[in-house]
Amino acid sequence: MDVRATDITMKSAALAFAERLHAAPDKRLARFMGELLTDFADLADRMDMSRDELQAAIGFLTEVGEACSERRQEWVLLADVLGLTSAFERRHARLPDEATPNTLAGPFYRPGAPRRADKESICLDGKGTPLVFTARLRSSDGGPVSAARIEVWHANGDGVYENQAPDMQPEFNLRGTYTSGPDGTVRIFTIRPRGYRIPDDGPVGRLLRQLGLPATRPAHLQFRISASGYRTLITHVFDRSDPAIAADPLFAVDPALLADFTATPDGGVACSFTFILARDEHHRKQT
Ligand SMILES: [Fe+2]
Repeated sequence: MDVRATDITMKSAALAFAERLHAAPDKRLARFMGELLTDFADLADRMDMSRDELQAAIGFLTEVGEACSERRQEWVLLADVLGLTSAFERRHARLPDEATPNTLAGPFYRPGAPRRADKESICLDGKGTPLVFTARLRSSDGGPVSAARIEVWHANGDGVYENQAPDMQPEFNLRGTYTSGPDGTVRIFTIRPRGYRIPDDGPVGRLLRQLGLPATRPAHLQFRISASGYRTLITHVFDRSDPAIAADPLFAVDPALLADFTATPDGGVACSFTFILARDEHHRKQT
């Protein structure tokens, strides 16, 4: 029987590819590639994808690779805006329900931020609306967590991190390392951060525009909290009032991570947030 071109489906080509994988030394990779191809072929059949569209897809992936450099990781950005990074973080963190959710760390974390005492400011250039952020650390089984190491980093009032503009801000501006007191509390003196656009001048930004997706993150502070006997928590605290809160391009917003930034009589704002840390045993039991 003659085989007409219209009878040839992408699916049958993908199945032929999958059949060749029986002897693959790396079985998990073989399964991944086989199923990826089968799923993609299904989609190409359903959409009746053209050769130009396949070339456009290959062109996009090529551009993503070419946009990567020592200072920029466009592939990570793509995984972030597709929601993959956040989804994997949630799926694999395996925290008890009551614990504060883990989020992606993002590209602006720097280890080694200077040690700061309780109530010491991390705003080194004096610019911005003063913010007093009270962090309360609690254990998932109750009680304060003292002597925890709390690293904080955030953007300034213009939505710019210190390491994005080293000529414009002092080194380690709006970054610090605090230690929680006996009551599990620490007060961080800083300024109110503003949301910012993710780097959208490359192929990922173009994709977002083609899809009508937002590129602006809601205002937030970021934290890395470690304490003996507890899982290290990397998370965000978001300004609930930010209009961008409903559509974070990186999908890191969680109802448990929203906080109120309240005006104070001195013209500043105050915010307090309770971080609930998961005991280390939980992780060991689960993995
Ligand atoms: Fe951030």
